[in-house]
Amino acid sequence: AEETLILVKPDGVARNLTGEILRRIEAKGYQIADLRMVTPSRELLAEHYAEHEGKPFYEPLLEFMLSGRIVAVRASGNRVIEGFRSLAGTTDPTTAAPGTIRGDLGRDWGLAVQQNLVHGSDSTESAERELALWFA
Ligand code: GTP
Ligand code: MG
Repeated sequence: AEETLILVKPDGVARNLTGEILRRIEAKGYQIADLRMVTPSRELLAEHYAEHEGKPFYEPLLEFMLSGRIVAVRASGNRVIEGFRSLAGTTDPTTAAPGTIRGDLGRDWGLAVQQNLVHGSDSTESAERELALWFA
């Protein structure tokens, strides 16, 4: 089956929402194929977010992602890449639809970067690249 990388970001772990987020992934019918708690290095995050290098939110994004532990999940299922993006909701928690992880649980703190609880790979190419980084 298709696979994707899901991250519970430091805000999700700190707010004790890991279980709730995993529950939603499993309730949708996706399999948790692998799971680990990670304290990532700056190098790993720089590779993960290489596409955003140079953008105004890049440094705040790395600082945020370095601020605590992250839960990395290898999830599998039919069309899981698109399906998890749908479960997560849009990037900004304020406008993310109710019913989504970010819409139901995300808060807009007015910070330099969106603390939006989760990451999900956005294409088959990203999923392959990101799974290799986080589950080396
Ligand atoms: P990920 O699943 O984390 O990759 O989120 P995404 O695909 O919805 O967003 P994207 O890849 O475009 O950006 C990565 C992360 O950078 C987002 O999740 C936010 O934390 C942050 N971010 C992206 N765009 C903006 C922005 O315009 N302003 C701010 N403040 N943060 C942003
Ligand atoms: Mg993205």
